[in-house]
This record gives sequence, C-alpha cells and structure tokens, in this order.
Amino acid sequence: MFFLTTAIDYTNGSPHIGHAYEKVLADVITRYRRLRGDEAFFLTGVDQHGQKVQQTAEKEGIAPEEFVKRTTLKFSNLWKKLDVSYDGWAETIDERHKACVRLILSTLKDQGQLYKKSHNGHYSVRQEQFLGDRDRDESGNFGPEWGEVIEIEEENWYFKLSDHTDWLKAYLEGTADVIVPAFRKSELLNALEKNIGTDLCISRPKERLRWGIEFPFDENYVTYVWFDALINYISFAGYHAAPDSGLPDFEKLWSGRPVHIIGKDILIPAHGIYWLCMLHAMGFSDAQMPQLLVHGFWNSRGGDKMSKSTGNIVDPNELADKFGVEAVRYYLVRDIVIGKDSVFDMDRLVMLFNTELANEFGNLCNRALNMSQRFTAGVLTNSGALHEEDIAVQNSLTEATNAYQTAMDDHDVSKGLEALNRHVSVCNRYAERMKPWELNKTSENKERVATILYHFAESVAHIAVLISPVLPGVTAKLADQLNLPELTNFKLADLHWGLLPDGHAIDKPSPVFPRIVIEDQA
Ligand code: ME8
Ligand code: MG
Repeated sequence: MFFLTTAIDYTNGSPHIGHAYEKVLADVITRYRRLRGDEAFFLTGVDQHGQKVQQTAEKEGIAPEEFVKRTTLKFSNLWKKLDVSYDGWAETIDERHKACVRLILSTLKDQGQLYKKSHNGHYSVRQEQFLGDRDRDESGNFGPEWGEVIEIEEENWYFKLSDHTDWLKAYLEGTADVIVPAFRKSELLNALEKNIGTDLCISRPKERLRWGIEFPFDENYVTYVWFDALINYISFAGYHAAPDSGLPDFEKLWSGRPVHIIGKDILIPAHGIYWLCMLHAMGFSDAQMPQLLVHGFWNSRGGDKMSKSTGNIVDPNELADKFGVEAVRYYLVRDIVIGKDSVFDMDRLVMLFNTELANEFGNLCNRALNMSQRFTAGVLTNSGALHEEDIAVQNSLTEATNAYQTAMDDHDVSKGLEALNRHVSVCNRYAERMKPWELNKTSENKERVATILYHFAESVAHIAVLISPVLPGVTAKLADQLNLPELTNFKLADLHWGLLPDGHAIDKPSPVFPRIVIEDQA
C-alpha cells in the first residue's frame, strides 16, 4: 500500500496557489502510483486550531467553529474544482482526531515523556512559539518574521524532545532517502545541532488560547497547534481508532513508509525535528518513519514570497474559472522543478497551455481523430506494411514511455511531461513529412494513409493514458472520442502497441484543448 499525505492547510484564510500546487502534486503522484498498479491512499485536510484562527474569528465577530467551517469549505470546494481526489479528509476539530491527540498526550505522560515547568521568555504571537537566542538575528534582535514579540512568564507542559535528538541525528545520518531532495537533509542536520538540549513546549494556557484541544489531564491548557496538527497524519490513518470510526485500517495503511508532502518552510523544525521525534517517542521504528518530500515555493514576480500581507496571492479559483482546470493543473506541475522554487507567471500559464497542449498535443489529436474521420470514415487499420518512419515513431513512443516512468518514479512530473511532449513533437514532424493529406488525394495510397493515421491515433491513446495523472479530464474525453472507454482504467503494464484494434471505429471528434485567447492582449 502506497500512503501519501500532504501538509494540512491552515484555515485562517483562503487557499492560495502554493496550497493548490501541493494538493495537485500529491494528486498527480497518487494517480501515477495507481497507474503503476499500486494500491494508493491519499490523505489531506485542514489545520483548524490555533491563535490566528481565534484572533481572526474574534475580529469578524463570529465563533471560531463557524469561522473554520466557512474557510474549510473554501479549501474542499477548490479541491473539487481542481479534480484533487483524496481518499481521506483530515479536519483537526474532528472528535476522532481530538481523541487520538488526547490518547497520545496521556500515553506520553504515563511514560514520563512530558513534564510541567515555568518559563520566562520571549514569545512570538505570529508564530505561536517561544523564541530563544538562536532565533535572534545578527544584531541580537528578533526579526520581522516573528511579528509581535512579547515577554511572558508562564507555566506549561513540555515534551522531552531532547531525549530523542541523538536518535534523530543517527537516523538521519544513517538512512538514505529520508528527505527528498537530499540537500534538505544537511539543512536539517545543521538545525538539529542548534536544537540539541531543547525541549518542546506543547501547551498553551487557556487564558491566552481557548481554540485548541484541551489537555486530558490538565483542563487549564490546550494543545500547541503544531503538536495537534502533526498528529493528523496518524489520527486520520486510523491510529488507535475505534473499530466503527470509519477511519482506515492503520496497520494496512502504514505498512510501508508513508510519504508526507510538505513545503520547505515547515521542514525545520516542525516535520524534520518535532514530528520525527514525536513518532519515535510513540514507539515508531526507523522503518516506519515517513519519507518527507519537500517541495519549493511559488513566488510572485519580483521574488517576494507569496503571502497574505504583501497581497500577492493569485487566487487559484479565479485562475481555474478563467483558464480552465486543465491549464491550471498542467502549469502547476509543469513549470516547477520538484524541490526548487518557481515564479508564478500567468503569461507562462497561458503560453504553456497554448504551445504544449493546444498547438502540439491538440494538433496531434486533431490529426488522429479528424483526419481518420475524413480520410478513412473513422475506421482505424493496424495491418498495413510498416515503413522505416513508422517504426521510428513506435520506438520514440517506447523511449518516451520509459523516460516518463523514470521521471515520475522520482516525483519529477515536469520531466515526465517533457518526455511525453517529445513524442508528440516526433509525431507532428512525422505528420509533416508523411503529409497524409497529400497522399490521400490519390486512391492507391489508401492503405498507406490509414497506417500513418493509425500511428497518430495509437500515440494519442498511449499519451492519453500517460497524461492521466495530470489531466484526468482529458483522458476521459479522449477515451470517449477514441471510442475506447477502458482507456481510463489502463495501467502502465497494459500499454503495448495495438491498444486500438485493427478495424476499430472511433467516435466523433471535438477539440480537447481550445486555445486560450486573452481578450485584452488581442
Ligand atoms: O504550514 N508555495 O499551513 P499553511 C508552495 N498548517 N507551497 C506553499 C506556499 C508557496 N508559496 N506557501 C505555503 C501550514 N505552502 C500548517 C501545516 S502540517 C501538520 C500543518 C505550503 O497553510 C506549505 O509549505 O501555511 C505547507 O506545506 C502547505 O502549503 C500549507 O501551508
Ligand atoms: Mg505557512
């Protein structure tokens, strides 16, 4: 079983393009695993507690429950619109999740892994955490990234993180592929050096924060939002869940190493240190530790981080309405290299759709479907004599399929798409050399024309399957037009030359990738 989860999005506002990228990427990876023939489970959801939510709800004059219900809908509606198809949905206000968090707190306390102490220190309201000297900048101040910093004296519950950091260091150093891409591991090891000896404050007094999960053994406290949110990865996977909970079978789901997809900003310390140590404290073995797939950021033009405060957010909802779901999904996984940052650029979104999809692949679809309709009455023939050029097309498809699979196995979706595009270009060049529209003028070329058109159609059928993780809607449309409904269920192992049987009749064609026309630039 392949089990993949993503960071759960914080519901203090609306989903932005970074959120959309992460969910589309996870969706693509999950769909690809199914295409490989694996059983896969994709969990995602929303992070609903914490100080920021409490503050925003207060400002809007509504209860936090009502506020998160409203913002949560913005996320789930967007995933529906973007064809992000998950198997499990995590909401941290869910009673089943709260019960799991409480159980973990009680167990850790019984094992002596939690303690209470008083602490006087600097506290960042924005980041909801105490700051230490390592958080000061070169001039000794707490930088603007911490927002308002206040000095407080407070008694709180602590998790003995320091008991687990030696293990973490050895585990990170000794295990390959703990973190992808690998360069993030050295960043994490550096951060860990600075963190050694520090424990993690996991409670907030209720006078200061009510919107959280109450401690099972100390009613004056709620759980620190990260300690709560991280647990979603196991609570919604069925960890210690009641048999009638409706949650998955934990043993089955967590049988291998799950993959957690997160952005680079939450590797250190949240996932790379806290989460791995929490799992270790709960008794998870090294072999059960998740693999962290750390993606880069979408930035706005000019290199600024896309953030609410700078107002650079591109609304994924508007983008989908304006350019269509396919264009948005394609752009998000095509114009970024996994692990690296990218700059969001609407012109490139339009350009990539219009060139790679509308012009190139769209043209090939048109050649396969329209020409077959016009020249061979919609009947495909796979029995004509093969020329050297035809064999080259078949070889190109094999090569593209292999390159695609290698790239996709590495989560390198952009490279996988490039491999498919290479084959599309090969087919279009073959079309321009063979000129079936010229050949068709002479009746003795009938068989030759049919063979060439078959190579277009068969290539379209294969690419329709291979592109399905990214553009599932396109696969469905092409399966319809090719009159081959089983195409939507094909696995990689089913792909061989001759998916379209000799004598197969296709259906009426209609454009799959209508060009995007920008009015105000025309
Ligand atoms: O961090 N580009 O929530 P979040 C790409 N609730 N990815 C981005 C991004 C950008 N510009 N901005 C954010 C949280 N992300 C916590 C997670 S997990 C137990 C709790 C990514 O809404 C970010 O890295 O701030 C994270 O993976 C996800 O979006 C949610 O971010
Ligand atoms: Mg964030």
